[in-house]
Amino acid sequence: MLPDKLLRKLGMRHFSGSMRELKAHENLIDFASNDYLGFAKMPVEHAPDSKNGATGSRLLSGHSKGFEQLEERIATFHKAENALIFNSGYDANLGLISSVAVRGDLILYDELVHASIRDGIQLSMARSLKYRHNDMEHLKILLEKFGDGIEQEVYVITESVFSMDGDQAPLHQLVRLTLDIENAHLIVDEAHALGVIGEHGEGLVHHLGLENEVFARVVTYGKAMGCHGAAVLGSFDLTQYLINFCRPFIYTTALPPHALALINTGYGRLENGHENIEKLQDVIHKFNRLVVQSGLRLRFRESETAIQVCIIPGNQKVKDTATQLQRKGYDVRAILSPTVPEGQERLRLCLHSYNNLEDCEQVLQIIAKSLKNK
Ligand SMILES: Cc1ncc(COP(=O)(O)O)c(C=O)c1O
Repeated sequence: MLPDKLLRKLGMRHFSGSMRELKAHENLIDFASNDYLGFAKMPVEHAPDSKNGATGSRLLSGHSKGFEQLEERIATFHKAENALIFNSGYDANLGLISSVAVRGDLILYDELVHASIRDGIQLSMARSLKYRHNDMEHLKILLEKFGDGIEQEVYVITESVFSMDGDQAPLHQLVRLTLDIENAHLIVDEAHALGVIGEHGEGLVHHLGLENEVFARVVTYGKAMGCHGAAVLGSFDLTQYLINFCRPFIYTTALPPHALALINTGYGRLENGHENIEKLQDVIHKFNRLVVQSGLRLRFRESETAIQVCIIPGNQKVKDTATQLQRKGYDVRAILSPTVPEGQERLRLCLHSYNNLEDCEQVLQIIAKSLKNK
């Protein structure tokens, strides 16, 4: 029997219309998955090493030549000194942040960073403060006020493409601000930039040529790469430190060989400049034009990425619009509060290389009509 206080929490969720449910949406046109380039549906070269499981953690039997070769490929592709593979982006953020930021350190983080970053912050012993979303003036004030403690390292954490808004971080400014302070380090989560930003989808840091100015990058493979896993990109010393002190890296079974084969195949496609990278850019560009034509510009956040957000305040209202879209065959999901702040409930549309313009037009028309009827 679930304890009463937990049942009460569930009851509150029901009451506020924000109950989370697992729903399989099959045979709908995809405006919801993170498979931005369609790689999840493409054939894979099989793992030469045909074990089904890794059989142990990386520090025991789970490590292999396959990991070494793949990590070298990842580091070269991203122009990083080293790469270290994790089982997921959640693990990578949790492990990286909770192990590098120690007691006496300070973490300054964008208020919209992903839950995995927040959980890493909570697990670390460091003090933490959030700065207003992409607000460099606010970050500067916090750095000036709290940034020069004795023996204190300062970690500034952002996403390069924000997962719930689709906008981008001002990375040049973030680099400048962190370079101004001795002992400040920038960590960038590139989960939604990999495969989307840059000629070969290398991510925003590489696109802006800032590889050497960033302390660590996190790239994840469950999104545009269409598979699973993640990597932390950083210096040789950082990866040595993580191998020794990062508990979510150490105490878990390593990814199986077939997961490595999928990641390898994905990098092969990016290296060869897969045509879907350009196709996705084209869809994003045209979608933005359609948003203007449909009269919905003010409802949509500015975004040049695969994530497009239409603000429809109120859990019930946004759920109703999502249901109408789903009834017409489009898989568009509502993001409710408390996942986003109250009043900022939204439809989160994910664009893909395989979305066609007629469907984009239809989706926007259905949204516009639904809003008119409210
Ligand atoms: C910005 C960001 N970071 C990290 C993650 C976690 O990655 P994964 O799904 O590989 O655990 C996500 C996924 O939701 C994300 O959006």
